[in-house]
Amino acid sequence: MKLELRGITKRFGALTANDHIDLTVEPGEIHCLLGENGAGKSTLMNVLYGLYQADEGEIVLDDVVQHFSGPGDAMAAGIGMVHQHFMLIPVFTVAENVMLGHEQTGFAGRLDLAAARAKVREISDRFGFDVDPDALVDDLPVGVQQRVEIIKALSRDARVLVFDEPTAVLTPQETDELMAIMRQLKQNGTSIVFITHKLREVREVADRITVVRLGKVVGEASPTATNAELASLMVGRAVELTVQKEPARPGAAALVVKNLSVIDPRGQLVVDDVSFEVHAGEIVAIAGVQGNGQTELTEALMGLQPRVTGDVTLDGRSLRGLTVRKVLDSGVGFVPEDRKEDGLVGEFTIAENLMLDRSNGAPFVKAGGLQLSYLAEFAEEKSKEFDVRSQGITTQVGRLSGGNQQKVVLARELSRQLRLFVAAQPTRGIDVGSIEFVHKRIVATRDEGIPVIVVSTELDEVVALADRIAVMYRGGIVGIVPGDTPRDVLGLMMAGEIPAGTDLEGTAA
Ligand SMILES: Nc1ncnc2c1ncn2[C@@H]1O[C@H](COP(=O)(O)OP(=O)(O)OP(=O)(O)O)[C@@H](O)[C@H]1O
Ligand SMILES: [Mg+2]
Repeated sequence: MKLELRGITKRFGALTANDHIDLTVEPGEIHCLLGENGAGKSTLMNVLYGLYQADEGEIVLDDVVQHFSGPGDAMAAGIGMVHQHFMLIPVFTVAENVMLGHEQTGFAGRLDLAAARAKVREISDRFGFDVDPDALVDDLPVGVQQRVEIIKALSRDARVLVFDEPTAVLTPQETDELMAIMRQLKQNGTSIVFITHKLREVREVADRITVVRLGKVVGEASPTATNAELASLMVGRAVELTVQKEPARPGAAALVVKNLSVIDPRGQLVVDDVSFEVHAGEIVAIAGVQGNGQTELTEALMGLQPRVTGDVTLDGRSLRGLTVRKVLDSGVGFVPEDRKEDGLVGEFTIAENLMLDRSNGAPFVKAGGLQLSYLAEFAEEKSKEFDVRSQGITTQVGRLSGGNQQKVVLARELSRQLRLFVAAQPTRGIDVGSIEFVHKRIVATRDEGIPVIVVSTELDEVVALADRIAVMYRGGIVGIVPGDTPRDVLGLMMAGEIPAGTDLEGTAA
């Protein structure tokens, strides 16, 4: 189906999030939308999906002007959306989820389910998805859950599919599989809009690329453009894609983790006897495929896991058994993996989120009173420094674009007096220009003599930042290697193997 967006304009109060945007997607085309955080990509797609009503402009499908007053209308017209935060119900099976909300008439519930199972099988076979209609969604890996979302859309005959940052939560292998799926859908004549901040992905699948900046289309880019060209078109200036950093000058061991194990709420051993040290002034990256214990390891350090054994000391003082509040108060900065869940309060303003967890004293609270003017000044300064794009510091954080929410978390955590900085997926959802900035800040934090842990599933990020790399596999550390270890060696270690001749010393100089 041919999709045309003509002159779409969407305003939020004084802000024009989409400013007369024109976009055409041909049948069987993969069209990438590239743009900085807050450029207006998600807004445009939400207009297309009927979640927002445009103030001006029209949506045209196969030359027919559409009027969507909600997602139901958009779906009925053949538009499907694969959300990044899945809308699936975990305790239901795949078929039940696909059936949900489907307006099938004339069937009793039981028959509906039979029809839904057949539908799942049929679509799954047609595209080689390998999805079992009777599997419980909760038991499926993220990549497969995403396929269920795709099946759900296809079962409603979607002929335009929107993917808004679908790969942010996927492993590299799942990402490759998703790309293959997109190519197949394309063969089938489905039109695809694909939003991502990862330039490699854009170059791999895009037939056409439209670049949006500050709500306007600024041009089209060729899929054969280099990363540097794409980045500068997006951001409007040249971007350093790799951070310059001096060799680390590590001091004494600051964080010492000994024989740490974690048992999760299901009774599984998820971190298995892990020991390592992080020295003052060095960055230790924890690499690994998502789901190999990295999340639980950082949670254990932060006091967020109840069943932990082993020792954790920071500058000689034990962190074990402390509440999260006490861990934060002892100078640990923390960027959680899931900003919506653990990092921010969506209904609070930017300013309020910037002082979250610091409401117990100076400088924000004095003599029992909130220092409003101090907070305002601080929030203005940090928003500017971290380039948080918003209508002002009293904007609710939940209304910011994804990448800008992430910047608020980083701004808060990096503006405290730190003794240790722990960042999980620090640049998830962040545009290339801002990644440059965040990486520089992390290196600067190291250079102030602070020990830093970066957990990342992005090998690019690991290699860019790490002085040493600890690779996790099935809850254990496979080995700790120097920061300049070749990628193929890291790749093998991420699968649990240690190639002969690997330098496993990885000791801080
Ligand atoms: N419901 C809303 N109310 C007010 N402002 C909003 C709302 N939704 C989005 N905005 C604003 O519109 C602008 C565009 O946001 P949008 O989410 O479309 O950006 P994006 O290009 O998807 O960015 P990212 O790459 O960070 O996801 C931002 O300034 C954002 O704060
Ligand atoms: Mg977005």
